[in-house]
Amino acid sequence: MPFSSQAVAKLYFIAAIALFVGQTLFGLIIGLQYVMGDFLIQFLPFNMARMLHTDLLILWLLFGFMGAAYYLVPEEAEKDLYCPKLAIILFWIFLTISILDVLGYLLFSYPELVKITGNQLLPTMGREYFEQPTVIKLGIVIVIVGFLYNIGMTIFKGKKTAINVVLLTGFIGLVLLFLLTFYNPDNLVLEKYYGAHVIHLWVEGVWVLIMAAILTFIMIKITGIDRELIEKWLYLIIAIAVMSGIIGTGHHYFWIGAPEYWQWWGSIPSFIEPVPFFIMTVLAFNMVNHRQYEYPNTLPTLWILGTVVVTFVGAGVLGFLQALAPVNYYTHGTQVTSAHSHLSFYSAYAMTVLTMISYAMPILRGRLVNSHASQVWERWAFWLMIVSMSFMALFLTAAGILQVYLQRVSETPLPFMMVQDKIHLFYWLREIAGLIFFIGLMVYIISFFIGGEVEESVQS
Ligand code: HEM
Ligand code: HEM
Ligand SMILES: [Fe+2]
Repeated sequence: MPFSSQAVAKLYFIAAIALFVGQTLFGLIIGLQYVMGDFLIQFLPFNMARMLHTDLLILWLLFGFMGAAYYLVPEEAEKDLYCPKLAIILFWIFLTISILDVLGYLLFSYPELVKITGNQLLPTMGREYFEQPTVIKLGIVIVIVGFLYNIGMTIFKGKKTAINVVLLTGFIGLVLLFLLTFYNPDNLVLEKYYGAHVIHLWVEGVWVLIMAAILTFIMIKITGIDRELIEKWLYLIIAIAVMSGIIGTGHHYFWIGAPEYWQWWGSIPSFIEPVPFFIMTVLAFNMVNHRQYEYPNTLPTLWILGTVVVTFVGAGVLGFLQALAPVNYYTHGTQVTSAHSHLSFYSAYAMTVLTMISYAMPILRGRLVNSHASQVWERWAFWLMIVSMSFMALFLTAAGILQVYLQRVSETPLPFMMVQDKIHLFYWLREIAGLIFFIGLMVYIISFFIGGEVEESVQS
C-alpha cells in the first residue's frame, strides 16, 4: 500500500459487509413472509422489514463506495488523503446513524418514529429506498459532503487522473441527487417524478461513473495495461451511459400521469442503455486476455469479470426487456421488475464493491495474496452468491411472467391475491435461492478468517 492514509478504507469495507449481512437477513425475512404470511408478523411486519432491506442496501453500498474512494483516490492522486482523521470521524458518525436507522424502525412504530424524528417539520419519510427519517438523511448529507471535501482536496492537491475526476464527478452527482429526497411534494405525480429521478439517475447515471472508475482502477492494477488506452473507453462508456440514462428516466414516467411523449422518450434511449454495459464486458475480457503480467491474486479478476457479465444481463438485458412502453404496460410493478432489481443491484453495485474489497483488503491487511485456503473459500463464496442470485432472478422472472399472464393478459383475469396464491411455488424457490445466497455470504466472511500460509507479503 503506497500511502498509509489508504488504511481508513478498511473500516468502511468492514461496515459495508456487516450491513450487507443485515440487508440479506431482512431479505430472507420478507421472502419467508411471502410464503408464510404470519412469520414474525407481530414484531416485524413486512413493510418494516422491506424498508430495512432496501434502506440497508443503500447504506452499505455508500459505505462500500466511500471505502473504495478512500483507497483509490490517494493512490491515483499520488498523495496522502487530505485529512484521514476526518474520514475516521465521518465513519463513526455514519455507522452510528446507520445503526440508529435500523433501531428506530425495530423499536418504534412508524407513527412514533415520525413523531420522534420530527418528520412533520420536513417530511421526507415514506419513499421507497429513502425511508430513512429526515434527521438520518441530514446526517448522510453531512457525511457525504465531508467525504467529498476530503477526497476533493486530495485530488486538488495531487494528480488529477481520469479515474479520480470521473469518480469525483460521480460522487458530486450522487449527493446532488440525494438532496432531491428532501423535496417531497404532496401531489403524488410530482412525488413519483422526484422519486424516480433519484433512484433512476443514481443507478443508470452517476453511479455508473463510480462503478466505471472503480473497475478501471482495478483493471489497470491487475492487468498492467497502459492507462491511456483504457481512459478513452472509460470516457466513451460514461458518456453513453449518462446520456441514455438521463433521457431514459422516461421509462419510469409511463404510468404516473406524465405527458404521453414520454412513452417514446422513455422507450427509445432504453435501447442504448445496455450498450455501455456491453462495452464494459468486452473491454474487461480484452484487458484480461492482453494482460501484461500475472497478478498473483486471481480473485479480483474473477470478481471483475463476474461483475461485468452479470451487470450486462441483469441491468442491461433484464432492464431493457421491460423498458419499452408496450411491454412495461403489462410488466410494470410485477415480479419481473423485482427480478431486474435484484440481479442489477447485486451485479452492478454490490459486486463492484466486493471486487474492490477483494482487490484492496489483502493489501490493507499487509499482504499481496491471501493464503490458498482463503482463496478457495472466497472462490466458493463468489460462485454461491452469483449462481443463487441468478436463480433468484430466474424464479422471479418465471413468477412475474405467470403473474402478468394470469392477472393482466388472460381472457379471464384473476384478482391480485388469487394470482399470488397460484405462483406460491416460485416464492419458495426464491427463498431457497436466498438461503443459498446467505450461505455464500457467510462463506465469504469466513474467507477473511482463514489463515494459513500467505504466499507473498507486501513490504511497503
Ligand atoms: C445499472 C443498474 C440498474 C439498477 C441497479 C436498476 C435497478 C432498478 C430497480 C431497483 C428498479 C425498481 C424500482 C422500483 O422499486 O420501483 C428498476 C426498475 C426499472 N428499470 Fe432498472 N436498474 C438498472 C439498469 C436499468 C437499465 C439499463 C434499464 C433499461 C434499459 C432499466 C430499466 C428499468 C425499467 C423499465 C424499470 C421499471 C420497471 C417497472 O415498470 O416496474 N434499468 N431498476
Ligand atoms: C438473500 C436473499 C434475498 C431475499 C430473499 C430478498 C427478498 C426480497 C423481497 C421479498 C423483496 C420485496 C419485494 C416486494 O415488495 O414484493 C425485496 C426487495 C428488494 N430487494 Fe431483495 N432479497 C434478497 C437479497 C437482496 C440483495 C442481495 C439485493 C441487492 C444487492 C436486494 C435488492 C432488493 C431491492 C432493490 C428491492 C426493492 C425492489 C423490489 O421490490 O424488487 N435484495 N427483496
Ligand atoms: Fe431506470
